[in-house]
Amino acid sequence: MRDRHSNGFYNRSSELRTIHNALRSDRAELVVMFGRRGVGKSELLVRAIPPRGFYYQATAQLMQQQLVDLTQELNRVAGGRAIIGQLDSFSAVLAAVVALARRDKDDPFTLVVN
Ligand SMILES: Nc1ncnc2c1ncn2[C@@H]1O[C@H](COP(=O)(O)OP(=O)(O)OP(=O)(O)O)[C@@H](O)[C@H]1O
Ligand SMILES: [Mg+2]
Repeated sequence: MRDRHSNGFYNRSSELRTIHNALRSDRAELVVMFGRRGVGKSELLVRAIPPRGFYYQATAQLMQQQLVDLTQELNRVAGGRAIIGQLDSFSAVLAAVVALARRDKDDPFTLVVN
């Protein structure tokens, strides 16, 4: 994956503001993003979430490989606060994400699986 916060990204300030406002909100929010293929939806998501947010772009690879990549992202987000061994199902990944999110109750946790 390309560096999530590199330069060369343009023309999305109002969309970023919309997403940031929803993420900052203390109420439940629903934001719908739609657009034709390749218009920049995924890139916008990547840019919109905080560096400590969990982001995973699903691929056509076998689930086994995707679980390796999901676990790696989980470890990145955990930032060395826990060594998380290889997770063997998507529900195990979600359970680990929930446990991580609950550790800092005052700190909102962002999860994106695209
Ligand atoms: N605002 C932007 N500035 C510069 N490059 C961009 C921008 N948005 C997207 N791109 C580039 O355009 C290409 C397509 O973007 P992206 O994958 O985000 O599209 P998408 O809408 O998610 O496509 P798909 O519908 O296939 O999932 C990528 O190479 C991405 O890096
Ligand atoms: Mg996409």
